[in-house]
Amino acid sequence: MIDSMSDDVPPALAVFAGHRSVRFFRPEPLAAGDLDWIVEAGRRAPTDAQGHMYALLRITDTALRDHLATLCANQQHIREAAEFFVVCLDVYRLERLVALRGGEWGMRQRIALLYGATDATMVAQNMVVAAEALGYGTCYIGAVQNSTGLIAAALKLPEGVLPLYGLCIGVIDPVHYPPTVKPRLPRELCFFENSYPADFTDDQLESGYAAMSPKRDWYESLGLYFAKGGTMEKREPIMAHAWQQQGLEPD
Ligand SMILES: Cc1cc2nc3c(=O)[nH]c(=O)nc-3n(C[C@H](O)[C@H](O)[C@H](O)COP(=O)(O)O)c2cc1C
Repeated sequence: MIDSMSDDVPPALAVFAGHRSVRFFRPEPLAAGDLDWIVEAGRRAPTDAQGHMYALLRITDTALRDHLATLCANQQHIREAAEFFVVCLDVYRLERLVALRGGEWGMRQRIALLYGATDATMVAQNMVVAAEALGYGTCYIGAVQNSTGLIAAALKLPEGVLPLYGLCIGVIDPVHYPPTVKPRLPRELCFFENSYPADFTDDQLESGYAAMSPKRDWYESLGLYFAKGGTMEKREPIMAHAWQQQGLEPD
């Protein structure tokens, strides 16, 4: 069984084998026409029920980009990438389309959140793969969720539109290009056949830590994000407020 994409990867899949998030960019624009191809790749993503429940905002205003970077944990790569998008789920446009034909809106918040996030993520990831296939570097910015409501307001998002994350795309600075790809959890912890495992043994979980801890224990990062008092817990009230503000809090 193949358990890594490093050996004999078919050329068509090399873009996946080489993926790494890039956080240092050269101060250059994308080559002429490339952004169009990247956006077209995004538009070709599958879409649930043909709902197109996404909106991407390309941030070209330097002051606005700087403001967003400040709100997103002051990440400098947001300022330096040639392109920065805020990826949103969007059921506002869909509601307008349904209303235009006289339909009464029947979509509730849970479906909107789940399907909208799914649609938007397929578009964004198509763009990532396209950009990387063209030789650019990309980096998602989940820190949008540190200030979801403020970002929604700064971008004048109507109810039904919610920022999910940012996406940097730019010309790779080779000086700081990560020399290796990051590890992934072993396949047997993530892909199952026919049913979910009864439970994970400690040994199986340790195999996950072993795979993910080439230099330092993976828990150093996992704990900071997912344990009590971590980033994800801190984001919970911010997201709850933003969901309310954008009319997407389940009732
Ligand atoms: C939804 C999402 C949000 C992310 N947010 C950030 C972020 O705010 N800043 C950042 O530098 N990287 C961010 N990343 C990149 C991850 O840190 C990166 O994908 C992970 O460490 C694995 O590394 P790799 O992409 O190089 O394989 C994010 C990735 C995803 C999928």
